[in-house]
Amino acid sequence: MKELKIETTFFVYDTIEALPEQIQKLMHKAGKARLKAYAPYSQFLVGAALLLDNGKVVTGSNQENASYPSGLCAERTAIYYAGAQYPDAKIVSMALTAGSLKNTTKQPIPPCGACRQAISEYEVKQQQPIEIYFMGETGKVIKSESLKNLLPLVFEKTVL
Ligand code: THU
Repeated sequence: MKELKIETTFFVYDTIEALPEQIQKLMHKAGKARLKAYAPYSQFLVGAALLLDNGKVVTGSNQENASYPSGLCAERTAIYYAGAQYPDAKIVSMALTAGSLKNTTKQPIPPCGACRQAISEYEVKQQQPIEIYFMGETGKVIKSESLKNLLPLVFEKTVL
């Protein structure tokens, strides 16, 4: 038996203003997208903004459903829209912001497991890492240079 250690690195920015200018803009777009969320059941609003290598920005927000599992997270709404509209473009950066209507969300909110799996598909497809920035409504922003940091030992198409 051998121990397998996997080390991951994240970068923490104290505020949104500490981000590179282009990413600040992207995060602001994610913030606007968050306000378009349809989340009457959870009251938890999530916004995503994706910067593509063709210069386009695609945004998404969570869309809930009375049949709860039929709803979709902001990240997948955005990433599937990007894949559908710009199938040949690569996703360079992703900005995520989440907040509850019940209280102010100050800690960074990372993407859920299902979204990590969905994002990984596009990272494998485009053979280029996607940098992911995530935050609450306010406060610190965490950056992951690749989806791989968030989902080690990922299940992906090369195993099929
Ligand atoms: N949600 C997202 O949009 N992204 C995530 O990564 C986690 C959760 C949404 C789904 C649901 O509408 C609400 O947040 C509460 O789980």
